[in-house]
Amino acid sequence: MSRALATDLSTDRHPLPPALDPARIPAHVAVIMDGNGRWARQRGLPRVMGHRAGVEALKRTLRLCSDWGVGALTAYAFSTENWTRPGEEVSFLMTLFERVLARELEGLMKEQVRIRFLGDLEQLPSGLQALIADATSRTATNHGIHFNVCTNYGGRSELVRAARRLAQQVAEGQLDPAAIDEARFAAELFTAGEADPDLLIRTSGEQRISNFLLWQLAYAEIHLTDVLWPDFDEGALLAALLDYQGRQRRFGGILPADAAP
Ligand code: FPP
Repeated sequence: MSRALATDLSTDRHPLPPALDPARIPAHVAVIMDGNGRWARQRGLPRVMGHRAGVEALKRTLRLCSDWGVGALTAYAFSTENWTRPGEEVSFLMTLFERVLARELEGLMKEQVRIRFLGDLEQLPSGLQALIADATSRTATNHGIHFNVCTNYGGRSELVRAARRLAQQVAEGQLDPAAIDEARFAAELFTAGEADPDLLIRTSGEQRISNFLLWQLAYAEIHLTDVLWPDFDEGALLAALLDYQGRQRRFGGILPADAAP
């Protein structure tokens, strides 16, 4: 957290690397930022220093995505399962989120970033909730990249919440069960209004979904890398996007070339 996002974003813009096809930049990138603790341990540092470095990597990634034309970036910052971590680490993370939000808000405004926090926010410390509410409303009409920070987020609980909200509407006579389709269901998720991610990146060599965006990742391409999240840089993002651009997305269908009998 050495420099404010405003400074980072306004000084040097990153041109699109020539290796990337500008017509096939993913509209929405989701990222599981894994490996902060291991990054710190490798350096003989406390785990929390890995989270600090992780914030820098996230700022870097947001800036690059914005410069390269990605429309939305969704990051898994704190899962519903992360409360089971040692109390000191949880408190550190909550304080870190508060500091980052307070410090970066002006930069987000300048760069027209629209930030939203997805998850059960009521369980978060009240100071953090207030900062989130302020940042969300102040950036709501910005027209730059959508930056979604999943905080106290769990994919299964998001699905249960959506089902409960629909059931409530049915019970109140406002909704016909036959009218519930995929679009109606998706409208009750935290991500309502956001297109599904095209690309999921997970760092640090792990190969799990970990309860992240279970509905929304249905057709996402997945890029796994051994890079630890604090080391995730321009080269690592470029590798992920090149990997993505090398994929043939079929969405359950077949390629036209394979359609001939
Ligand atoms: C997992 O590493 C990573 C996290 C728990 C994410 C921490 C959150 C940030 C870096 C971003 C916060 C940003 C904002 C905008 C509030 P890990 O601890 O699981 O690493 P390990 O697997 O090596 O132990």
